[in-house]
Amino acid sequence: MVKYRIAPSILSANFAKLGEEITAVIDSGADFIHFDVMDNHYVPNLTIGPLVCEAIRPLTDAIIDVHLMVEPVDRIVPDFAKAGANIISFHPEATRHIDRTIGLIKEQGCKAGLVFNPATPLNYLDHVLDKLDLVLIMSVNPGFGGQKFIPEALPKLKAVRKRIDEIGKDILLEIDGGVKVDNIAEIARAGADTFVAGSAIYGAGRDSDPHRYDSIVAAL
Ligand code: DX5
Ligand code: ZN
Repeated sequence: MVKYRIAPSILSANFAKLGEEITAVIDSGADFIHFDVMDNHYVPNLTIGPLVCEAIRPLTDAIIDVHLMVEPVDRIVPDFAKAGANIISFHPEATRHIDRTIGLIKEQGCKAGLVFNPATPLNYLDHVLDKLDLVLIMSVNPGFGGQKFIPEALPKLKAVRKRIDEIGKDILLEIDGGVKVDNIAEIARAGADTFVAGSAIYGAGRDSDPHRYDSIVAAL
């Protein structure tokens, strides 16, 4: 029996009351808090960094799942580890030495994830899959919440699911972008076990609503 996890993306939350919005999704049962870090360089948007991670750490024991959309990667990793991140994921195009970055994340006591944009080939997994704790498949181009799910992510999920099952290691398979009530079941069938959801949980008004969270879980 697969354990499914929901990772609300606080990118879509109301930042004027971020603490409350995090507590609300945790109370609804969220296992992860997905923390989108954008640098206006690797992606055309600018969001939050280690200071905000440190500020929210005392609010919850849930996993803080940091998605780095920054270039370069390595110099910000220790800051996130100190700020209480549990998982740190990065894009292979954003670092010169993928294996070194994975090692650095683990040395800092965090779990390591590798992220695949819609057009990033899966062969970046070839020599590192067994060192990873998480593989994140992007189903939108990174940079913004509220985009439409790109269906080519489904065969990619299936391919990664197969590779993870073949090596038999406990590696999370996460999907990020456009996850909604009407597609989450199909995404789960393709092999994902961890579902980032931003706008589906926080809505257009950026305020969480337990009904929206419950509908996502019920649709799984
Ligand atoms: C996009 C981010 C996502 C985003 C998802 O670059 O990585 O985590 O917040 O938002 P939705 O669920 O609205 O597509
Ligand atoms: Zn993300």
